[in-house]
Amino acid sequence: MDFLTTPVSKRIAVLPGDGIGPEVCGEAVRVLKAVAERFGHHFTFDYQLMGACAIDATGTPLPDATLDACLRADAVLLGAIGDPKYDNNPAAKVRPEQGLLGLRKSLGLYANIRPVTAYEQLLEFSPLRPDRIAGTDLLIFRELTGGVYFGEKGRTADGTAYDNCTYSSEEIARIAHRAFQAAQGRRQKLTLVDKANVLETSRLWREVVQGIAPEYPEVAVDYLFVDNAAMQLILNPRQFDVVLTENMFGDILSDEASVIAGSLGLLPSASIGEFSALFEPIHGSYPQAKGKGIANPIAAILSAALLLDHFGLADEARAVRAAVENALNEQVLTPELNAGTRYTTEQVGSFIAYGVIDLRDCKFHQNNIRVGMSTII
Ligand code: IPM
Ligand code: MG
Repeated sequence: MDFLTTPVSKRIAVLPGDGIGPEVCGEAVRVLKAVAERFGHHFTFDYQLMGACAIDATGTPLPDATLDACLRADAVLLGAIGDPKYDNNPAAKVRPEQGLLGLRKSLGLYANIRPVTAYEQLLEFSPLRPDRIAGTDLLIFRELTGGVYFGEKGRTADGTAYDNCTYSSEEIARIAHRAFQAAQGRRQKLTLVDKANVLETSRLWREVVQGIAPEYPEVAVDYLFVDNAAMQLILNPRQFDVVLTENMFGDILSDEASVIAGSLGLLPSASIGEFSALFEPIHGSYPQAKGKGIANPIAAILSAALLLDHFGLADEARAVRAAVENALNEQVLTPELNAGTRYTTEQVGSFIAYGVIDLRDCKFHQNNIRVGMSTII
């Protein structure tokens, strides 16, 4: 045990969700148990249903019991939600995504933070040229509880469909402050991505951000239209430090940015509100891979590292990231990143959990995987 930090007791609501969600979430929990073991913390895990599995069991994607558990918890860990049986049925009245959107809104999780890193060991896995992406290290701040996702939507009498996009100054200001503060502690650059040449909401974003900028004089601010930003992101991603944007643009740009990292299976996210916080990989439920043991657990594990940061457990979060780095160095990776030797989701997760306990000379062999599995689970 590592007695450097004071032991803490935390309750974590776990929503494994659908598809590969339970598999990757299981590995993130394994790693959190390893952290508890090494640092002497006490984490309790409260498992709840959300998404298609909740619809199947209860008829609703976000049962009251799940919301209550999330409200009671110190943090929420989520796998992924979604099921193809709802995707191609525009007439479906209940959808798994309503659970996730309802949860974000109910917990007030307005700031979604998605770090994007080009790992040196994985440059060759990106379809982009290594010299373009090497050294990329950016943070996307995506607004998560407003905009077109939550505006009034419906059909008019003549059958026309509409989705309204609204933003208040307050909704913009609260996430803008967080993004400026993050930029202060990094390379001191903030890029607001919008479509201010067309959209009124985007013009309000600019006004509010311009109004706040003088409070952070050391942060250089620039503005990009979203179409240009989509291009710049893959042309020259190193130019970005903190990217601040609204809900829909952030959704699209973060999937695009994952190409820089080499796999969607590597990108974690934190969703923060005034009173709650939720951590989830940015990838979806990847139903085709369900139960095959090929899903990359690293995005979920790095989401657990963000959860530890949120608890103020910086050494613990560092230990998790170091163990992930070690897995990258040793190429203990799932098939999309390691065509040669195929490790399973569980082997990658166990190896990283083992690395959290003891990183000295941590190479993959059946023994440390078994030790990792038997002591941690
Ligand atoms: C994401 C996802 C969700 C979103 C879906 C599942 C509703 O794509 O978290 O990026 O659009 O926000
Ligand atoms: Mg998305």
